[in-house]
Amino acid sequence: MAKIVVTGGLGYIGSHTVVELIANKHEVVIIDNLSNSEISVLDGINSISGIKPVFEEIDICDKDSLSSVFAKHMDIQAVIHFAAYKAVGESVEDSLLYYKNNVVGMINILECMKKYNVPHLIFSSSCTVYGQPEKLPVTEEAPIQKAMSPYGNTKQICEEIISDAIHSYHSFSTILLRYFNPIGAHPSGLIGELPKGVPSNLVPFITQTAAGIRKKLLVFGDDYNTPDGSAIRDYIYVVDLAHAHVIATNRLLKQSNTQECEIFNLGTGKGVSVLEMISTFEKSTGKKIPYTIVDRRAGDIEQVWADTQSANKELGWKAGTSLQDVLASAWKWEKRIRQL
Ligand code: UD1
Repeated sequence: MAKIVVTGGLGYIGSHTVVELIANKHEVVIIDNLSNSEISVLDGINSISGIKPVFEEIDICDKDSLSSVFAKHMDIQAVIHFAAYKAVGESVEDSLLYYKNNVVGMINILECMKKYNVPHLIFSSSCTVYGQPEKLPVTEEAPIQKAMSPYGNTKQICEEIISDAIHSYHSFSTILLRYFNPIGAHPSGLIGELPKGVPSNLVPFITQTAAGIRKKLLVFGDDYNTPDGSAIRDYIYVVDLAHAHVIATNRLLKQSNTQECEIFNLGTGKGVSVLEMISTFEKSTGKKIPYTIVDRRAGDIEQVWADTQSANKELGWKAGTSLQDVLASAWKWEKRIRQL
């Protein structure tokens, strides 16, 4: 058991990870500024786990307040850093907002970890760093490609800052987790994804269409070089992803005085097309999804899925939940928040 700081712990992936950390007997301190989350998520975590973790409503860009949390909890052993902006389009419109929050925020965390001797960090990265890889499935060794958006660039920059920082900080070890496409909700239906406004990600758009909030889904392109012409992604269940964070945390806690920076892809290893996602959702829930094919979305890649061998062998982690069950969990959550 250890005391773990989770930044962005009331967000989508953060809240699911907090639940799994508590189930594994860790003590959690959540730091979140509620910029893209709701305080009610804390009740959801409490209902699932029976524990209300310490919550600090703090912006990671406010270094003094951030530092005060580390000063208050001198026995913090690891930080899992989720707090970041993640909307690609918004990052193009307001790039400095993204560099400030994602990069300056990250540096503030590293400085606090250094000042208070916190030796372990897990960083939320993304398969976006690979762009459109030449070889599929994509391994951790695939070359990093020039980022297509300021958002993607912040992930690359943060990865570089962290891997440099471990060499100037003698007992600092870290794991960078590159997520593919996280989807679904906790099986209880008590926590899930809460997109603000019109969702840009596929699954929230599908569930909102099923709920009648959106008239129809727009499928961005059916002329890709894929079996059915629609784009392919590796959709990973958020609860499986949360488990991976617990395993990564426990792995770091066993290490001491290392300067390691390990990197793992977190996906299922299987690519699924947009049209397959629609038909699997329909099969799983019995709800019809009206859709129209439109032009490709600017900046989208054609296809990507993970080589998961390293995560399977080294971490001992494997995504196990079926896509049907994952999509059913997303629908259960949507129904609950819409009171359907
Ligand atoms: C997107 C981001 C990526 C980020 C990830 C976080 C873009 C271009 N990329 O990835 O940087 O790390 O979310 O989860 O925004 N689709 C439709 N109709 C829709 C919505 C999506 O057809 O209404 C298609 C997309 O074209 C894509 C697939 O569904 O082929 C998945 O889309 P999405 O959920 O937005 O994820 P990514 O684009 O892979």
